[in-house]
Amino acid sequence: PKIHFIEHNGKEHVIDAEAGKTVMQAATENLVPGIIGDCGGACSCATCHCYVDPAWADKVDARNETEEIMLDGVMNTESNSRLSCQITVKAELDGLVVRMPASQF
Ligand code: FES
Repeated sequence: PKIHFIEHNGKEHVIDAEAGKTVMQAATENLVPGIIGDCGGACSCATCHCYVDPAWADKVDARNETEEIMLDGVMNTESNSRLSCQITVKAELDGLVVRMPASQF
């Protein structure tokens, strides 16, 4: 499935992600700037913060409890904020659009 990563400056990266991996892995393995993933996906660093395009809000799984707690500590969150290491890539997410916050570099 293809995932569209949009940097805070509008630059778009379309990545052909592998199902079963996380959106964070798809970004870091393809060197997409703006998603860091310091903790390797353990949901403990919040450097994989992204905004899920509203059109996709219902298609990604809901936030989990640890993710909620981590996002609480992030300043620039919105209602569509997610930690991308907690979103698993699957066929239904083909075309998913996520945006990265300006602060995450
Ligand atoms: Fe650390 Fe997602 S990679 S919270």
